[in-house]
Amino acid sequence: MKTSSFLYTNSGKILNSGKVSWKSPSNIALVKYWGKMDLQIPKNPSLSFTLGASYTQTALLYKPVGNTDLEKTFEIYLDEVEKEDFKPKITSFFKRIEKYVPFINDYSFVINTHNSFPHSSGIASSASSMSALALCVMSMERMLNNEMSDDYFYQKASFLARLGSGSAARSVKGAIVVWGEHDTIPDSSDTYGVVFPYKVHSIFKNYQDTILLVDKGQKQVSSTVGHGLMKNHPFAEQRFLQANTNLTKLIEILQNGDIKSFIEIVESEALTLHAMMLTSNPYFILMHPNTLTIINKIWKYREETGSHICFTLDAGANVHVLYPVREKNKIKSFIDNELASYCQDNQYINDEVGLGAIKLS
Ligand code: PMV
Repeated sequence: MKTSSFLYTNSGKILNSGKVSWKSPSNIALVKYWGKMDLQIPKNPSLSFTLGASYTQTALLYKPVGNTDLEKTFEIYLDEVEKEDFKPKITSFFKRIEKYVPFINDYSFVINTHNSFPHSSGIASSASSMSALALCVMSMERMLNNEMSDDYFYQKASFLARLGSGSAARSVKGAIVVWGEHDTIPDSSDTYGVVFPYKVHSIFKNYQDTILLVDKGQKQVSSTVGHGLMKNHPFAEQRFLQANTNLTKLIEILQNGDIKSFIEIVESEALTLHAMMLTSNPYFILMHPNTLTIINKIWKYREETGSHICFTLDAGANVHVLYPVREKNKIKSFIDNELASYCQDNQYINDEVGLGAIKLS
């Protein structure tokens, strides 16, 4: 779908004061997005598992006010505490989306948000929070123009979410989402995510993701800076080609259940992401010593037990431990006995593949 098809058709309607709420999940990329052109157009396509337990719940309260300056007309609260420091990001999100949803200028907003995971957990909330907010805005658009199809609703929500944070485009739907154009995914797009269109092998249903919280603090280098450093990166072009090839392979694997190849691609993608950081100019390291210890322990456990456990990493020190649901009990003991002590305050989050955002009444 062309970007222009997401422009708004004015119905001339104005809504009375009201509230819309959405619960939107986080996601974990298996093929990573790292490097972009302006306004979150990815340099390569990516694929993620949508999560279930890690989510943001957002209520958007709106009140008609006539044409106003958005900067002055919204308040934002996290767990009932006003967050002035969230305002610049939300203001720039509203500015980016106003071309497509100009009606937002007719209202003042109070945004109440809550994350299921602690704010200081090192888990980026931008994907879940931007998609929850985008879905709230789309619920308003639907009330203004109720002709809209469900496909359009979700595609445009993903399109808007992407303008807030690239990976947020993959947080609207579940269970597996592709964002970025790719030959073997019909209708795939650089501007919104699409649900994986093929039958997924049963082994990947209810796939588990235990997120080991190695470092709960703020990252030293933001993903915005990291993406920017791919611009003059000596290995960038090769990396973008590799991501495309890995995606082609993973699309097959998700259908045929070849879990050995799944592990190879997923772990290689994680390490390549961090290799790009290590070889940026300026270079930086987001892994911690405990990240490496955990990775080595996972490899040893897999070697010794024949388990199908593997890991992936975000742009941070935390480790996502991925495994089929049938190995849950054994791997839980392994995590408790051998990995939890490498987490900050022994903390981890048990998550699994989820089905996407839910509208709350
Ligand atoms: O959406 P951003 O700008 O926070 O970038 C996300 C980048 C990674 O999490 C490292 C990879 C990905 O595809 O989610």
